[in-house]
Amino acid sequence: MSEFNQDAVRQPCKVAFIGSECYPFVKTGGLGDVMYALPRALIRQNCEVRVMMPLYRCIPDKFKEKMVYKGDFMMDLCLDGRQFYVGIMELEMDGVIYDFIDNREFFDWGNPYTGLWEDIPKYCYFAKATLAVLNYMEWIPDVIHCHDWQAGLVPVYLRTRFAETPVGAARSMLTIHNLRFQGICGIPHMKYWTGLPDYLFDYPVFKQNNDDANMFKAGLAFADRITTVSKTYAEEIQTSFYGEGLNDHLYYHNSKLYGIVNGIDVDIWNPKTDKLLPATYDSADAIEQKKANKRALQEKLGLEVDDSKFVIGLISRLTDQKGLDLVNAIFQEMLDDNTQVVILGTGDPRYEGAFRYYESVNKGRVCSYIQYNEGLAHQIYAGSDALLVPSLFEPCGLTQLIAMRYGTVPIVRETGGLKDTVEPYNTETGEGNGFTFDNYQTDLLLDAINRGKAVYFDDRGRWDEMVLRDMAKDVSWENSAKQYLEIYEELR
Ligand code: ADP
Ligand code: GLC
Repeated sequence: MSEFNQDAVRQPCKVAFIGSECYPFVKTGGLGDVMYALPRALIRQNCEVRVMMPLYRCIPDKFKEKMVYKGDFMMDLCLDGRQFYVGIMELEMDGVIYDFIDNREFFDWGNPYTGLWEDIPKYCYFAKATLAVLNYMEWIPDVIHCHDWQAGLVPVYLRTRFAETPVGAARSMLTIHNLRFQGICGIPHMKYWTGLPDYLFDYPVFKQNNDDANMFKAGLAFADRITTVSKTYAEEIQTSFYGEGLNDHLYYHNSKLYGIVNGIDVDIWNPKTDKLLPATYDSADAIEQKKANKRALQEKLGLEVDDSKFVIGLISRLTDQKGLDLVNAIFQEMLDDNTQVVILGTGDPRYEGAFRYYESVNKGRVCSYIQYNEGLAHQIYAGSDALLVPSLFEPCGLTQLIAMRYGTVPIVRETGGLKDTVEPYNTETGEGNGFTFDNYQTDLLLDAINRGKAVYFDDRGRWDEMVLRDMAKDVSWENSAKQYLEIYEELR
C-alpha cells in the first residue's frame, strides 16, 4: 500500500446516524437508548458521528435553549413538487453532534408517533430532508447509518434522487430494531409523498400484498448493509413466524444481513454512581445494598417492607411483543406469601387494566405503576431480585442487560437477543445468568419463575454468586461498536 493510501485509511470514519428518537431528547423504547449510546461508543473508537433526528415539540426546553441555528432552505417533496421548509438546529454533547430537522408542520405534534396516516408523510419528509441537510452542510459521511422504518427511505433516496449529488458518494446501513413496525400504506399515498418514480413501486422494492407500499421493505432492498440487534433475531426474521411478512425479502437479501447485539451505556447504568438510587453499590457490597434498595422500593410503592421477599420486577412497553398475555395468565400463580411483583409500564389498555386489577386484589404484594418513569425504572432495576422478560419476540432487549448490570437476575424466554445474552442457569454446575424457557407457553414461564424461586429460597449462596456473576458480565457497547466499525470500514 502506498504512503498516501495509508494516510487515507487513518482518517476517522464519518458516520451519520438517522433515526426517529434519541435519549435524552425523546425516547419511547430501546431505539432511543441505542441512538444515544452507540454514537458515544463509536467516538471512543475514533469515529466522527452526527446524529440526525426531528425537532419534535416534546423535546424539553432545556435542550432547545442550547441549540444553535445552522441554516434553512426549501425542499420539494411530493409528486407535485410541493415545497417544504427545512431548518437545521444543532447541539453538541460530549463530542457527538446532534442535528435536529425543524419543520413545524410535521413535527409540532404532541408525540413523535401519532398514527401511520400522518407518520408516513412525516418520515418521507424526514428521510429526504436529512440527505438534503448533509449536502447543505457539506458534511459527507462515509456511512449513513439508518434506524428502523422511519429512516427506511434514506437508502432509497440516496441511490435515486441524491445519487448524482455529493452525498450520493456515501454508503448506507439500515438497522432493524423491530420488524413489527414497517411504515405501510396504499401505493398512491406513498407515491404521492415520496415523489419517487413508478418503477420502484413493484415487488422487489416498495410493493407488497397487491396494493400496499412498504417503506422498510424498500429501504432494506436499497441499503448496502442490513443489520439487526442480535444474531438470533437475524436468523429468526428470515422465518415466517418472526418475519412479519418480510421473511422472504430478508432471506433474499441475507448476504448483506448481519446480527450485532446491543449493549447499554455503562455510565448511565452504573449502580455505583447512580444518583437515582437510595443506596449505591458495586460487587463488594451488592448483596447488602440491594436489600436496602429493596426496602426503599417497597416503602415507596406501598408494598410490605420485608427484604426477605422475592421481588419480581417488570419494566416494559405493555404490548403483545413483551409476552404479557403469559404473565396475565399466570399472575395469581406466581404470587405467594413470599413473593412480590412490581410492574412499570404503559401501553395497551388491556394490559394496563389487567395489572391495575391485580394490584387492587393483592394490596401490599403487587404494585402496578402505569407510567413512564425513568427514576422509578432505576430503582426497580436495583431493588428487585429478578426481572421478567417473557417476550413473544425480542430483537435484542435492553432491560435484561440493565438488570444484570444491577445484579438482578433475568427470567426470559429464549428468543432474539434474550437468548443471546442470558445464559440459562445450570443446576449441576451453578453457572449461568438467569432462568429461561423456550416455547411460548404459560406453564413454561411459571416453571422458569419457580426454578428461580427455588434457588433464591433454598440455595442462596448460589443465587448470590449469580448476582455477582451478572454484575461482572460485559454488557457494554465496546465489542459491538467494534463490529459496526468493521462493517463501516468495509463499506468505505
Ligand atoms: P423496547 O425497545 O422493545 O421497548 P428494550 O428492552 O430494548 O425494549 O428497551 C426498553 C427501554 O425503555 C429500557 O431502557 C427500559 O428501561 C425503558 N422503559 C420501558 N418502559 C419504561 C417505563 N414505563 N418507564 C421507564 N423506562 C421504561
Ligand atoms: C426495539 C426492540 C428491542 C431492542 C431495541 C433497541 O425496540 O423491541 O428488543 O432492544 O429496539 O435495539
